[in-house]
Amino acid sequence: MTTKIIGISGSLRTGSYNTSLLDSVRRFMPDDFEFEVASIREIPLYNADEESESGVPESVAKVKEQLASAGGLIIATPEYNHSIPGVTKNAIDWLSRPPRDIPRVFGNLPVALMGATPGRGATLLSQNAWLPILHTLGMRLWSGRSMAVPAAGEKFGDEGLHDEKTLELLGKFVRGFTASLLTNPRRSRD
Ligand code: FNR
Repeated sequence: MTTKIIGISGSLRTGSYNTSLLDSVRRFMPDDFEFEVASIREIPLYNADEESESGVPESVAKVKEQLASAGGLIIATPEYNHSIPGVTKNAIDWLSRPPRDIPRVFGNLPVALMGATPGRGATLLSQNAWLPILHTLGMRLWSGRSMAVPAAGEKFGDEGLHDEKTLELLGKFVRGFTASLLTNPRRSRD
């Protein structure tokens, strides 16, 4: 049976290091895993009035279904002001509506966090800032390995991630996460 893993990049930027890091995940995906990137690009700013009038937008409903049917999630998060970028948090806020859907969409979803930055802090503060969100939505953090890329400007080029050491770490990260899903798969939650 194939396990579907969803990837989400927290950046909308053309040439984003985080989107590029996520793209490189594909090359290490073992057989029996399907890797699908979900886009937050079309998700509007959260507005409770809009939600009461029309429910969640189509762009949100689509990603919710992708997550509901996923066996795992890989988040590539940028770091803004030592935390999560607003666009990424906004997407998660929409995806958590309405609250009755949270167990189906996020419940017990195994999550691997990673991130890349031109800075020296390697997105560790941003990755830490995700923890209360994963906790409140009932996701399952995989902490078998850390994938935090500093000095991204030296490691990514037009062809994507080219730094050998980082590619090696990414391979171990993806193999570790996928192996954990085989031994401890997502269980539905109601
Ligand atoms: C940043 N950046 C940044 N980097 C970092 O390591 N720590 C930080 O706190 C911040 N803060 C920050 C705030 C704002 C408003 C911006 C626009 C940028 C730099 C950031 O890591 C850089 O723009 C990355 O290239 C963003 O990731 P993507 O878009 O390349 O994936």
